[in-house]
Amino acid sequence: EDAALLEAFQARIDAEDRIEPNDRMPAAYRKTLTRQISQHAHSEIVGMLPEGNWITRAPSLRRKAALLAKVQDECGHGLYLYAAAETLGTSREELVDQLLTGKAKYSSIFNYPTLTWADIGAIGWLVDGAAIMNQIPLCRCSYGPYARAMIRVCKEESFHQRQGYEIMVTLSKGNEAQREMAQDALNRWWWPCLMMFGPPDAASQHSDQSTKWKIKRFSNDELRQKFVDATVPQAHYLGLTLPDPDLKFNEQTGHWEYGAIDWDEFKQVIAGNGPCNRDRLAARNKAHAEGAWVREAALAYAEKRHARKAA
Ligand code: ACO
Repeated sequence: EDAALLEAFQARIDAEDRIEPNDRMPAAYRKTLTRQISQHAHSEIVGMLPEGNWITRAPSLRRKAALLAKVQDECGHGLYLYAAAETLGTSREELVDQLLTGKAKYSSIFNYPTLTWADIGAIGWLVDGAAIMNQIPLCRCSYGPYARAMIRVCKEESFHQRQGYEIMVTLSKGNEAQREMAQDALNRWWWPCLMMFGPPDAASQHSDQSTKWKIKRFSNDELRQKFVDATVPQAHYLGLTLPDPDLKFNEQTGHWEYGAIDWDEFKQVIAGNGPCNRDRLAARNKAHAEGAWVREAALAYAEKRHARKAA
């Protein structure tokens, strides 16, 4: 690629200019953003599945209304994000096809099962908590459409985090069985949540370039540490124990130090071998096939209107 273009582009980035869809941009910038935004969109869409599993079994009308609204928000996030990704030149059909055929990645976290109602609390508190930590800085990402989409997404994520934490507060103040359920959910979701932030910095292949291009404002490990520091006191408030015997507060640095993450598990999950990968893809493919008539009807209607206008 033309060195002058790369240099002029980097100068715009360094000046904190926002890059817009019709601006000239290096092919690699377009490619990495299409990759990240589409993976993010797929994560929102697949993310509806573990929680959707509990909508019919929510313990009260109020809980059901909140969960339903939350899952709908995730669908909306997926749609904004596909729209943002499309501005870079790849069609939504193509992006969705990459998800359905298993070619595209989506967040590892959505390949774990939701076994009890407490998992809905733990997901809101921890998964959405981790998502906010990662997404707030994306509101300042160099690519305009992605940054703007993130503002609304983050506001909604913050509601999701609160609804989850409130479920955890209720369960942890409940009877013995409820407290055990909350602890069990924390035990199962904690480590996978730490993996959400991606591989350690030394193993993160895209980090250097994405940081230079101000797509990333913090590294994977920096965000993971911020999340741990914010979440440990919340667990203590709930009277729950984090499933990490090595967790300890370092007075000097002011950070909570955590034990070793099982990166083999992470690799297995992103390679398609997590506990629910196959179920998730099968569910998305089924939904896509069952929605074919909607797409056909919308297309037929658009053609009819177009023909009427032409006449
Ligand atoms: N799950 C699945 N894949 C992951 C994960 C994860 N938790 N973390 C990293 N990866 C993948 C990357 O996508 C990349 O794969 P690829 O080269 O095939 O695309 C590879 O592992 C190496 O990782 P990095 O070099 O660190 O990748 P990157 O710089 O893109 O950083 C990160 C990963 C932090 C996830 C970044 O892409 C990001 O901020 N994405 C936007 C947020 C997002 O997608 N959130 C989804 C979950 S939150 C939610 O939907 C509620």
